[in-house]
Amino acid sequence: MSSEESAGASDGVSRRRFFGAGAAVSAAGALAVGAAGGAIAATALRPAQDTPTPVSELSYPFYGDHQAGISTPPQDHLVFMSFDMTSKSATDLQLVLAKWSAAMAQMCAGQTVGSAEPAREQAVPVDTGEAVGMGPQGLTLTLGFGPSLFDERFGLAKFKPALLKDLPAMAGESLQAGYTGGDLCIQACAYDPQVAYHAVRNLARMARTQVKTRWTVLGFGRASAGANQSTPRNLMGFKDGTRNITQAEDMDQHVWIADSDQDWMVGGSYLVARKIHMLIETWDADQIGDQHTVFGRSKEEGAPLTGKAEHDVPDFAAKGSDGATIIAADSHVALAAHENNGGVKLLRRGYNFTDGIDDVGRLDAGLFFLSFQKDPEQFIKLQSKLGASDRLNEYIRHVGSALFAVPPGLPEAGKYFGQEFFG
Ligand code: HEM
Repeated sequence: MSSEESAGASDGVSRRRFFGAGAAVSAAGALAVGAAGGAIAATALRPAQDTPTPVSELSYPFYGDHQAGISTPPQDHLVFMSFDMTSKSATDLQLVLAKWSAAMAQMCAGQTVGSAEPAREQAVPVDTGEAVGMGPQGLTLTLGFGPSLFDERFGLAKFKPALLKDLPAMAGESLQAGYTGGDLCIQACAYDPQVAYHAVRNLARMARTQVKTRWTVLGFGRASAGANQSTPRNLMGFKDGTRNITQAEDMDQHVWIADSDQDWMVGGSYLVARKIHMLIETWDADQIGDQHTVFGRSKEEGAPLTGKAEHDVPDFAAKGSDGATIIAADSHVALAAHENNGGVKLLRRGYNFTDGIDDVGRLDAGLFFLSFQKDPEQFIKLQSKLGASDRLNEYIRHVGSALFAVPPGLPEAGKYFGQEFFG
């Protein structure tokens, strides 16, 4: 596969076809498609055209080898929800997973999950209606199973992958139970926040007698970049996602599971979710020179301190006239870079979030860090180092944490996630 047809292609959308020649998502949110290209709109390929296709019509295929929402170029908005089963019946779990799988496919195609306006005046609408007429908006829905789903309640212990266990306690954490764990999760990403919210709301609603919501995070701006995307900024004002995984070869090597003690995990991945609170007032009072040292990069350009342009390769060995390395050894990028971690990489897919203000009037905001990797140990290795010595720690607190096994994509309509568990 060529570099143009990189990570995004592996969830079923050819990036070359999808973006067309020189296509880009404009600031206005419209997907411009070059004359030679077409766009995946609704469920069909559109003919070549000169006029921009509105991003509202963008639709990613739901069925495929991998779930969408992983290698998919990150959309602008996120609704993440973690759920606990309230029912202890395996049949109820099976029912939820079957209902969700079908509804997820419908919503990703821009459809409702049933009538929003039934003909009978006495009928309660099946779909809540707030996304009617808005189009699919590039919606992806990604489902994960938490370690607790495989406890004694549903008799699923024999299906639990050996790698799926709660993350170990690490330095730099002040975890709150209200943002931690969950039996199931849904990551909803879209170019419109209401479409993402509608999807999660309706999934929760159709399973309300079997599951309850445990915690949720609304992400209002992507803080990572996929292939062919500009690099966005996190709430500290720095470009985030510059050296993210974008190539299909890296996805195969670091993200997609090829071997597992559980056959049902092949083609899947592990999702780490970390709600990271930023001490924004403290950061905003910091000098720019220190901000550069903390990340090891410049602020506006996002260049490594050893280079000039954003995508210059950092030189972690280069020394200044004082004999110290130009990129501090305890800067965020020096600690996290694959060059300094035996080649370990992960796919970052995080979002900026805000919860308004806290009870003493400080801004309550930060990074909802999401990463996909074939083995949770990739995250643990990096976070153990970052938690122990990252200069950034003065300005952040990890307050939420969860690990989920993300099964592979569904091959076709009629199949459902977790089907293997129920014989
Ligand atoms: C609020 C918390 C965090 C902030 C604000 C943050 C911000 C940044 C920024 C600005 C960069 C440089 C640009 C880039 O290459 O993307 C970066 C790089 C990176 N971050 Fe973070 N990050 C945070 C948490 C984490 C965590 C928890 C991990 C993993 C455990 C992580 C892993 C990485 C990696 C692997 C890189 C690429 C380093 C390289 O290869 O140069 N980050 N981060």
